[in-house]
Amino acid sequence: MDALLKLPSRPFFLPLLLLSLSSILSAPTTASSAVIGVTYRSPPPSPPSSTGGNSSLPTPPLQPEAIAYAVSALGFGAVRLPFPDPDLIRALTFTNASLFLSIPNSLLPSLASNRSLGVHWIRVHVLPFYPRSRFAVISVGDAVSQLELLLPAIRNVHLALQDLGIKDIPVSTTFSFLDVVIRPVPPSLAAFREPMGEQLIHPLLRFLKRTNSKFLVTLQPYTANQLYFQMPRHLALFQGGGELSFDHNYGTESEYHSLFEMMLDAVYNCLKRAGYESMAVVVAGTGWPSSAVDEDGIAESDANTAYAQVYLKSLIAFSGSDKRRPGCNLEEVYIDELMDAQSESKQRGTQQWGVLDSNLSSKYSVFGSLFDSVNPYPPSDEEVGEGPWFARIWKLICLVLIYVFVRKQLIVCVRLVVPERPGRWIVSQFGWNLGWQFGWGRLQFDGGQ
Ligand SMILES: *[C@@H]1O[C@H](CO)[C@@H](O)[C@H](O)[C@H]1NC(C)=O
Ligand SMILES: *[C@@H]1O[C@H](CO)[C@@H](O)[C@H](O)[C@H]1NC(C)=O
Ligand SMILES: *[C@@H]1O[C@H](CO)[C@@H](O)[C@H](O)[C@H]1NC(C)=O
Ligand SMILES: *[C@@H]1O[C@H](CO)[C@@H](O)[C@H](O)[C@H]1NC(C)=O
Repeated sequence: MDALLKLPSRPFFLPLLLLSLSSILSAPTTASSAVIGVTYRSPPPSPPSSTGGNSSLPTPPLQPEAIAYAVSALGFGAVRLPFPDPDLIRALTFTNASLFLSIPNSLLPSLASNRSLGVHWIRVHVLPFYPRSRFAVISVGDAVSQLELLLPAIRNVHLALQDLGIKDIPVSTTFSFLDVVIRPVPPSLAAFREPMGEQLIHPLLRFLKRTNSKFLVTLQPYTANQLYFQMPRHLALFQGGGELSFDHNYGTESEYHSLFEMMLDAVYNCLKRAGYESMAVVVAGTGWPSSAVDEDGIAESDANTAYAQVYLKSLIAFSGSDKRRPGCNLEEVYIDELMDAQSESKQRGTQQWGVLDSNLSSKYSVFGSLFDSVNPYPPSDEEVGEGPWFARIWKLICLVLIYVFVRKQLIVCVRLVVPERPGRWIVSQFGWNLGWQFGWGRLQFDGGQ
């Protein structure tokens, strides 16, 4: 008789409690969105005299201040500098953007064997601006081919930072997606390429985890689709519309709206397979060229301003949305890139990836407003827009309610376990508790009017 009376209380309250708890716990993860940054490649240091000596159209050297102004005017929260230059870093200090510095591949052989070179590099590129500038990460190399040098060089840069008393700048390296991931379709089967995975990436991931660093990878659906995927263009452009869903392996069915999303999920699954599920991921470069001319001098039709605009707009919406794969810890996304390469004519084999023309005028009319507007992702769904202050108050109310419920039910439980008088007394006591709770709730709301 007692056992029968005890049963109804559990199925009723436990799910309610779990429901409220899960909604509270899931709130912070859905609120996080990736920081949108941009890549700026400084023009090569050699003067452009090799282009034929045409002095009628001199390209003025861009002032670092102009670059810094463009970054903050477009609202980017981070800048990636594949070829960092101290003057540019100084100018960017006055924007609020965090910095992603790459150490050029050419320095790797010396860095791997000589830690004082690392110290020297940090002294020139980091120390004068630290901690005023926020350094998001230092990438040792970019798509490095001399893999055996990578880990020693990364360790030396990390130790060089420690030597100089800098403890909060993570060190990592940038990989290119197709270099490291095999079997990316379907994403649940993706894994790191072997033997690189065992020999390099696993020890590297161990280092990254120990030093609280991040996994940096470039994801270029435009290039990857031409070279590898050969999927319909609308998928590369985030126009999947929800109907593209496959990946029935391992009992999970995933729906993808874009190639970018699939590639990101493939990276996430590689990390998961390697045992580093919670590793922070940074998309070090992604974009869409507004024009491209192949080696034969033929323009690539998919590279145009309209497609580039669709891609960038959807990318920003996706990165800010909470529709991303739960668990995938995407921290930053860097758009390739701030400016077109400074070439006077569209030569063979060149692609223009800039958000801005080489004379700093914006190519995409909507770009400035992209960061202010709310872009739901995927585009068909409705965005639930609640301010963070509202969410916080709501959480507080939930916590208070849970506290009241739990406290009263604990009292009931204790009485159920040690009943003074079994039978009807328990039921009436239980009912009294419920009545007390709802009565209390009404009282509070009336009082607040
Ligand atoms: C320089 O450019 C102008 C116009 O762009 C062209 O008319 C002229 O022939 C060029 N001169 C040389 C030396 O290439
Ligand atoms: C600067 O960036 C930080 C971190 O992203 C942010 O909290 C802060 O509000 C920003 N300040 C301004 C003036 O934008
Ligand atoms: C290591 O790097 C430092 C700084 O660049 C340089 O002065 C030194 O000669 C290098 N040592 C060796 C053994 O190359
Ligand atoms: C910038 O360059 C583009 C061509 O590259 C030209 O159409 C545009 O008028 C230029 N803008 C300014 C402000 O010079």
